[in-house]
Amino acid sequence: MLSKLDKLQDDAIVEIGTVDSINGLETWRVTYLGSKGRLKGVMPFMKDVPKEEKPAVGKRLNEVKNALESAFDTRKGELARSTSDRHPMDVTEPGKDVALGRRHIITKTIDGITEVFSRMGFSVAYGPEVEDEHHNFNALNIPYDHPARDPIDNFFMGNDRMLRSQTSTVQIRVMESTPPPIKIIAVGRVYRPDTHDATHFSMFHQCEGLLVAPKVSMVDLKTTLFQFAKSYFGEEAEVRFRPSFFPFTEPSAEVDMKMKIKGTWQWVEIGGCGLVDPNVFEQLGYDNEKWQGFAFGLGIERVAMLKYGIQDIRWLFENDARFLRQF
Ligand code: DAH
Repeated sequence: MLSKLDKLQDDAIVEIGTVDSINGLETWRVTYLGSKGRLKGVMPFMKDVPKEEKPAVGKRLNEVKNALESAFDTRKGELARSTSDRHPMDVTEPGKDVALGRRHIITKTIDGITEVFSRMGFSVAYGPEVEDEHHNFNALNIPYDHPARDPIDNFFMGNDRMLRSQTSTVQIRVMESTPPPIKIIAVGRVYRPDTHDATHFSMFHQCEGLLVAPKVSMVDLKTTLFQFAKSYFGEEAEVRFRPSFFPFTEPSAEVDMKMKIKGTWQWVEIGGCGLVDPNVFEQLGYDNEKWQGFAFGLGIERVAMLKYGIQDIRWLFENDARFLRQF
């Protein structure tokens, strides 16, 4: 009897090692542990076992049964984990969603503004964000004692290096390297050490415009900005000039645009402009008798915040995807 049990256990363990499917495992279970299986099959021989050996044989019988049952559980776990019994790849299963991302709201605003001016024939120019005082101030006719040069309002880095505080620097760089006529916009970052709050940030973006031609007037300037406003903000948009002063333009004006904010059309100040000051041309060697020009500078964040109803400039640069996803 004991040798029968040994043989049964050996056979079962060897055979279960060759089982490689759930169906095969079920057949094995029926063969060894089923109600008509081999384990049940040895039971009738129990009556032939001498009385004094019965406890030992009974114990062995239990051991074999436990061994087979645990072999069954182990193999079942292995098969479930292995790929052999799984379906092959299902090519009809929908793929995983790919997060496509999106343009940042400022990038989108820049692209929109650039697109409108491109259609009007302006090309796009770039300049460095690390500038010198010549391009940021002197060449723009901003005298040494002008408040805009106060160290408290600028990121001076020593060695005549600073982070540009305005994109007007690009006007100078383009005129230095290109003979007139000129028709460009320059979009980019500018830096001022403002304390951060809902409307101030130490880095923001401007869109600069410059046109140099034989005859340029305030009418050309206003018409250009008017066309931009209509195209960018909608047919009912308007432009209003308020007299002002900038060292690099004469005359100068503040630019207001009428745009739709939360359903109603309202006047909003979005930049400055004017006709290029003769001192600027002279310093560059441009002939003031032959050339005239207009220039303007618009605040990109201001446009974006008004157009999309954003109340705090800091939200634009915190990189909180929950905020950025809305636009
Ligand atoms: N650079 C000026 C600023 O940052 C904005 C500006 C005003 C630009 C008048 C211009 C201009 O080109 O003509 O405040």
